[in-house]
Amino acid sequence: MKLLLVGTYSSALRRLIDDFDDIELVESVALGPPAPRAARDLRPEVVLVAIERPPNWALMTVRDLAAGSPPWTIVALVDRWEEDVIHQAVLAGARDVLPRRSSAMELRTALFRARRAQLEERSGAPEDIPRATGSVVAIFGAKGGVGRTTLATNLALGLATTNSARVTLVDTDVAFGDVALALNIEPTPTLLDTLADGVLDDHDKLRAQLLEGPKDLLVLPAPVAAWPGPTLDPTRITRLLHQLAALNHFVIVDTSVVASDVTAAVLDAAELALLVATPEVPVLYHSRRLLESLHTHDFPVDRVQVVLNRAGSRTDVTTSQARTALDHDLDWLIRNDHAAMRATALGSPVMLTQSRSRVAVDINKIVAYLAGVPSPRSRSHWRFWRR
Ligand SMILES: Nc1ncnc2c1ncn2[C@@H]1O[C@H](COP(=O)(O)OP(=O)(O)OP(=O)(O)O)[C@@H](O)[C@H]1O
Ligand SMILES: [Mg+2]
Repeated sequence: MKLLLVGTYSSALRRLIDDFDDIELVESVALGPPAPRAARDLRPEVVLVAIERPPNWALMTVRDLAAGSPPWTIVALVDRWEEDVIHQAVLAGARDVLPRRSSAMELRTALFRARRAQLEERSGAPEDIPRATGSVVAIFGAKGGVGRTTLATNLALGLATTNSARVTLVDTDVAFGDVALALNIEPTPTLLDTLADGVLDDHDKLRAQLLEGPKDLLVLPAPVAAWPGPTLDPTRITRLLHQLAALNHFVIVDTSVVASDVTAAVLDAAELALLVATPEVPVLYHSRRLLESLHTHDFPVDRVQVVLNRAGSRTDVTTSQARTALDHDLDWLIRNDHAAMRATALGSPVMLTQSRSRVAVDINKIVAYLAGVPSPRSRSHWRFWRR
């Protein structure tokens, strides 16, 4: 996408331009008359106008850029979420208005969405522009063995059987990933095959690399590799997840316990990030620190939900103590259940073979929430556990 930038940069904008090679900055110009001039000369697809306080100068620029049904799409970026500025920007001709604090990934998604909406309005839905329809759900944790893979595989299977949703499960733990083991499938091709040039940006080739698992679940396993495993390029992971979101209703991503740029890229791409913890003191301690770090790094906290796994296990930490230790609501509880261990040992997920087990029943509540299935035992049901 050819992008003309008008006004001042933000760090997310720099990342947008540096990290995504499908966004090409054609020019960066000041507010005022240089903007429409540059747009006429350089024919960008999207013009992004940063609106500063006081906004009139920028709003006038938007009006000049929008005059005479131009071929480009105008998107405004605002510092503060002030209704009057947003209304004025839209009235002046902006197709969408985004907060400046948006992440690079959010900006990218919004720019493509705005462009697509405008093209569709002009000429009907073009076939060749991929639609990012699916939700990326990241499963992460501060410590090993907390149940990320158990949750990821069963959540993915549960979603795949609900409303016939198209679901891909991705294992980004390239050193010790065991999604393939959990599903008892041969891990070829793997995640690495999809990151190759020529595959990553081609929907048909990418689709051909996805393994067919049980219940029509599509799987992208980690390679069978010894530690430390191959080094992945986080920007490619971001692109892969975006492409998979265009092909699926849900993309469930299992992550490595190692804090890495790859896990950061997964979290950045995720619409929802489920932090898995168990009622054990070291796990709670590090999970709280992880939540605090996310907060410090301005990760949108409303995208994080906490899953207390193995709830009720005899660790001498009660559920309400776990909540206090994390200083975060326990959005979901998954009870301790021997069925989970048996399933891991046999490579047959509880969702397939022990659907009435406590662990399957509890994970199914998350499935119902994500799939939008009305359920009397929705997320809020768990509030009584917190007492
Ligand atoms: N609710 C549960 N009740 C009992 N056992 C569980 C539960 N959830 C997971 N387990 C067991 O805990 C072990 C670790 O689970 P799992 O492999 O899912 O964790 P992980 O976070 O992916 O670990 P890793 O750090 O190796 O990636 C497995 O033996 C699994 O069966
Ligand atoms: Mg795991």
